[in-house]
Amino acid sequence: MARYAQIVGWGMYVPSEILTNDDLASVVDTSDDWIRARTGIVERRIAAPKETTATMAIRAAQAALRVANANPTRLDLIIVATATPDYPFPATACLVQDALGATKAGAFDLSAGCTSFVYALAVGSQMIISGAYDQVLVIGAETLSRIVNWTDRNTCVLFGDGAGAVLLQASAVPGGVLSAVLGADGSGGDLLMLPAGGSRHPASAETVAQGLHYVQMNGREIFRFATRVTARATRQALDEADVNLEDISLFISHQANGRIIQSAAKSLKLPPEKVFVNLDRYGNTSSASVPIALCEAIEQDRVKRDDHLVMVGFGAGLTWAAVVVKWGVPLPVPRPPRWTVVWRRARYRWAAVRSYLHRLGRRILSALIGLFVRNNGSG
Ligand code: COA
Repeated sequence: MARYAQIVGWGMYVPSEILTNDDLASVVDTSDDWIRARTGIVERRIAAPKETTATMAIRAAQAALRVANANPTRLDLIIVATATPDYPFPATACLVQDALGATKAGAFDLSAGCTSFVYALAVGSQMIISGAYDQVLVIGAETLSRIVNWTDRNTCVLFGDGAGAVLLQASAVPGGVLSAVLGADGSGGDLLMLPAGGSRHPASAETVAQGLHYVQMNGREIFRFATRVTARATRQALDEADVNLEDISLFISHQANGRIIQSAAKSLKLPPEKVFVNLDRYGNTSSASVPIALCEAIEQDRVKRDDHLVMVGFGAGLTWAAVVVKWGVPLPVPRPPRWTVVWRRARYRWAAVRSYLHRLGRRILSALIGLFVRNNGSG
């Protein structure tokens, strides 16, 4: 029997602190007019000191599970799409897995620059369509404010923090993720990069002094690349899905620059009502931008059952990707009964206790082994 990967849950989280263009103009040589005119961005969210990519990913994931009324212990796989993980390792997805109490799920991070979420959606849906898994949680989460040089006006005005998540579920109902096109051109890797902190330039006092732990970008080249690939990848994904351009109900592009989105929409001859834009309020949240946009589109009643959506991303790598989704869930989704909310909260508390007990158990065991070895060694 044919299997389909339907999006059955979605959720987002953005930090509460807002940084406006005027705020930025008081720290670097820029202006609200310049940023609005060149990017379309008006404000962005900035993570609080205690917030990280994992904490935001967890909030978005919990919201997605709530919408789907899904049990985290039944998740098969968690993919966190991010360029700003909490650590190089362990994967941020493992931190999310632990916090959700997703005891049977595999977990890994996926890194494809700002395209990571669309890549992850392609990977997650294929895991389902192939029959390997039934439920895959795909999260895009970023804390870009931690890797931006706040004295570099070329980059610091562009980015923001946040997270979005979708729950993919196996279904016999035709639809869901119909096609995916992934692309890469590593020859452009130097156009957008974080030079230090990897094996090429391990973090050192020198790399920090040279600011190599900050995002470096050739904005003009990235702009040209993005306008080229966005429409092309969209057309390819539509061809693969056998869906006509006119049948797209909503075009959800990576929210990097309003002019890039407009240029793609113009090339695809899409009217403004079919193009979703929210970068004015969040800036470029990299891997989080597409799922956050999807959540807001649903909230604004711009998605209906059987609609065809295109989600398209581009970014560091260089990478690009597009997926076509036939929406399968009737909207709005009824609110889950109150007891399920309480039950889910209790589950997350239990997941935290369970995690603590595991760590404590490991510490006690290793102390006992140490004691045993010392006693036997001295005896
Ligand atoms: N405020 C005021 N002036 C600024 C500025 C800022 N924040 N940032 C750059 N400028 C200046 C430049 O120094 C330059 O001055 P100069 O002509 O005296 O050298 C001038 O504005 C024009 O710079 P330019 O780079 O040509 O501007 P642009 O129209 O290409 O816009 C970007 C710059 C970064 C907004 C645009 O190139 C862009 O959005 N690129 C894509 C970036 C992106 O999406 N990255 C993430 C991909 S996932």
